[in-house]
Amino acid sequence: MSRTYVAALDQGTTSTRCMLFDRQGRMVSIAQREHHQHYPRPGWVEHDAGEIWSIVRRVVPQALDDAGVDADQVVALGVTNQRETCLLWNRRTGVPVGRAIVWQDTRTHDLLADIAGRIDPANLQHRTGLPLANYFSAAKLRWMLDRDPAVAAAAAAGDLLFGTMDTWITWNLSGGVDGGVHVTDVTNASRTMLMNLDTLDWDEQLLGALDIPRVVLPRIVSTIGTVATTVEPLPGVPIGALIGDQQASLFGQTAFDAGEAKCTFGTGSFLLLNTGTEAVRSTHGLVTTVAHKVDGEPAVYALEGSIALAGGLVQWCRDNLGLIRSPAEIETLARSVADNGGCYLVPAFSGLFAPYWDNDAQGLLVGLTSFVTKGHIARAVLEATAWQTHDVMDAMNADAGVAARSLAVDGGMTSNNLLMQTIADYLDMPVVRPMMAETVALGAAYAAGLAVGYWSDRQALRDFWRKAGEWVPAMPADRRARELAHWRHAIAVTRLWSQR
Ligand code: G3P
Repeated sequence: MSRTYVAALDQGTTSTRCMLFDRQGRMVSIAQREHHQHYPRPGWVEHDAGEIWSIVRRVVPQALDDAGVDADQVVALGVTNQRETCLLWNRRTGVPVGRAIVWQDTRTHDLLADIAGRIDPANLQHRTGLPLANYFSAAKLRWMLDRDPAVAAAAAAGDLLFGTMDTWITWNLSGGVDGGVHVTDVTNASRTMLMNLDTLDWDEQLLGALDIPRVVLPRIVSTIGTVATTVEPLPGVPIGALIGDQQASLFGQTAFDAGEAKCTFGTGSFLLLNTGTEAVRSTHGLVTTVAHKVDGEPAVYALEGSIALAGGLVQWCRDNLGLIRSPAEIETLARSVADNGGCYLVPAFSGLFAPYWDNDAQGLLVGLTSFVTKGHIARAVLEATAWQTHDVMDAMNADAGVAARSLAVDGGMTSNNLLMQTIADYLDMPVVRPMMAETVALGAAYAAGLAVGYWSDRQALRDFWRKAGEWVPAMPADRRARELAHWRHAIAVTRLWSQR
């Protein structure tokens, strides 16, 4: 009998990848392509969903070709995705209505006050687990409907379909205009600001308050459980899991049980703590979200500290400032100096996310003197990610009532040793990284593989976890306290600026 594999499709903020995993959880191939980022106005970020679908059609066969694997050797496909990014498309033609609005986009800023007038934000937060913010999909959808009365009419008539990227890809994978399945899973639905966290269904009160026609919304399904069979580009494979990328990396880190946490450093950075079957409502600025749900079992929830910009800030240094030529150079540049030279950067490009939730905030670079070089700015860039991680960890500890003892990390930025050491120093706790840093795709593969019985239980998956690196805190307490005070001051100035 020929060997079999599980495929994972990871549709992220900057690229789309397909990876194949074998029964030992080893990645046997990866095919990846970036898509364009569109910034038509300050604060607007858009993706072309048609371009993303055409990339899916290329990377899936490429991943199989590279590994010499036939389609019939793939037993399941897991789909994982950037969350909150959403679009409308025509159910008869499959053509998107404009570009997808990306999670980082702040265009809905003025709409938020209007939404707050329609539904008390505390009530909204209790129902959805989310603060009222640009980040989540509901306001983006409202914006799409408000922009053009013809779009609103077509949506109400049932001619349009709404979806996050899991929904768009699954609909296309499963046949598109010829019977594509219109679904989303609970992890993605929990990021829309329209799903009730307790019922795991669209919340009628919210749909009414935001005037969202239910007919455009996908059916909400479990994370783990076959939802459809692929038609193209890989025919006849069960789609065993849909899962938001941050929940996927929690699963890929095998943080299956309450009390287990991880932090992923991608475009943004996201710290998630598994809280088991209890949806813990944060009182310290975190988001309550669904971690995963196995079909027929209760949902597992998580507390999340979402940071809008981490690796994205490094890319901005490369693309917008020309400070570096490749992301890896940020570490070399930062190591050219001993410290930040007194300069601090607050990267509030999409407002400030957890634990502040300041929709008006904009980025800030403070402490500049003639002494400051680009090396110091590179330090400030890395320290911004470390301090924000510190702030969400503080909130997590306060919500959980106990202090975490270590932090499991993953994602592209974990190859930056200086950053990992700085995080260990600022959090004053060890940071550990697994061998397999691609935990997003791995988690989607694990989820899909469990759905079809490729892996029989989760213990087998835990056994695959191997430590690759560990960083232990080495910063004197007084220096840490001094730096923290400066960072807090920079945050306060940022917020002052947003009130101007
Ligand atoms: O919530 C946004 C998040 O899902 C994006 O993740 O890895 O594409 O930056 P990433």
